[in-house]
Amino acid sequence: MDRLIIHGGNRLTGHISVSGAKNAVLPILAACILLDEPVTLHNVPVLMDVRVMIRMLNALGLRAEYCDTNSVTVFPARCLKTMAPYDLVTAMRASFFVAGPILVRKGFAKVSLPGGCAIGARVVDIHLMGFEKMGATVSVEHGFVVLKAEQLVGCPIDLPFPSVGATENLMMAATLANGTTVINNAAREPEVCDLGNFLNTMGANITGLGTPSITIVGQPRLLGNKEYSIMPDRIEAATLLLAGIITGGDLTVKHMNPQDLTAFLACLKKMAVIVDVGNHSVRVQSSGQFSACQFETQPYPGFPTDIQAQLMAVLTVANGVSIVRETIFEKRFMHVNELQRMGAVIGVRSGEAVIEGVSHLSGADVRMTDLRAGAALVIAGLAATGTTVVHGLQHLSRGYENLIGKLCDLGAKIEPI
Ligand code: EPZ
Repeated sequence: MDRLIIHGGNRLTGHISVSGAKNAVLPILAACILLDEPVTLHNVPVLMDVRVMIRMLNALGLRAEYCDTNSVTVFPARCLKTMAPYDLVTAMRASFFVAGPILVRKGFAKVSLPGGCAIGARVVDIHLMGFEKMGATVSVEHGFVVLKAEQLVGCPIDLPFPSVGATENLMMAATLANGTTVINNAAREPEVCDLGNFLNTMGANITGLGTPSITIVGQPRLLGNKEYSIMPDRIEAATLLLAGIITGGDLTVKHMNPQDLTAFLACLKKMAVIVDVGNHSVRVQSSGQFSACQFETQPYPGFPTDIQAQLMAVLTVANGVSIVRETIFEKRFMHVNELQRMGAVIGVRSGEAVIEGVSHLSGADVRMTDLRAGAALVIAGLAATGTTVVHGLQHLSRGYENLIGKLCDLGAKIEPI
């Protein structure tokens, strides 16, 4: 299955539940390297990226496996390996999260530099700066980062940018370091908090989660022997809501945390979409007519960059002119060309897109370049007249659990081929 045929024009209606968060379960799986006892994770989405991280843990000597449809059990390694294989790290950037846990446990880690991807260079200089501050020597040899530290020592670390991955990698390393680490200008994303809550459940001592300053008091060891349930995927929730809006539907997304999407929901209100927020659900009702809006991606609690492409797809058929500024990734407008093939009127200059709403999009052959751009093209195809053939489907199964099945349950007409 590498292509989709989407027959546009069907309203999405009904209720749907989101899966567990990809960007929470990936660092949490890496954090299992820190544990001395087994742990079982629940609400784990069935994703290609999760399978890659499971393969990574098994390659390092742990034993990780799905023990139920959405549960994964991880057993500690008898002898933890210190080298993360090139093919796995380059297959998925998040594999670099294993660097901190291996380094703090073994005093040595050799991890392939993660390659860039469609949305940007994806460098790891902030991760490495933090490890050096904690006493590691860092060298890059033949495409591998080599980290050495007899003993990581806790210390204050000021991040030049609130990097999600760097905050997570350094927080994991600090849980077993000697002394106290304070990460300043830390990322505040809900997924970072979920990782911190998981580590505290396992015996870590982390405070300040969700604030710009996270304090980690190093512990001699982290236990396990517990269970943990992954937070709901807020990016999937937003993607489903946007599919409901562009099709003029009436859609309720359940088992989600609306407070994780405050900036996004504020945008929907500016677009004159009817939004009802419950404790763990959001309902959108749309006539298919909605206003243009302006937004700029920012670190949390700002507008999430992972929703930018999907909202842009909706704004291509809004009433009026919208402006989108992408400030997180340097190349995250790869979906623009494909939306233009469907009749969207979008002008881009230096990180800013100006979208002139048109009455409708027309079905076309389009290609996914990355996960969220792919979701944007599916959303566009749902509302386009005629049929849209979306190529490059492998990107979607990396990060969305059964998205096509969920959309069809809500009334979409999509045929995988
Ligand atoms: C995480 O990526 C997410 N991935 C991304 O989701 C998300 O878009 C991003 O955070 C921002 O919210 C996972 O959690 C697995 P960053 P990460 O470090 O950690 C620069 C998706 O679609 N930077 O906050 O890579 C970097 O180049 C994915 O689910 C440095 O310069 O994000 C980028 O421009 C895409 N040096 C910016 O910071 C560093 O050492 C944000 O990166 C690290 C990052």
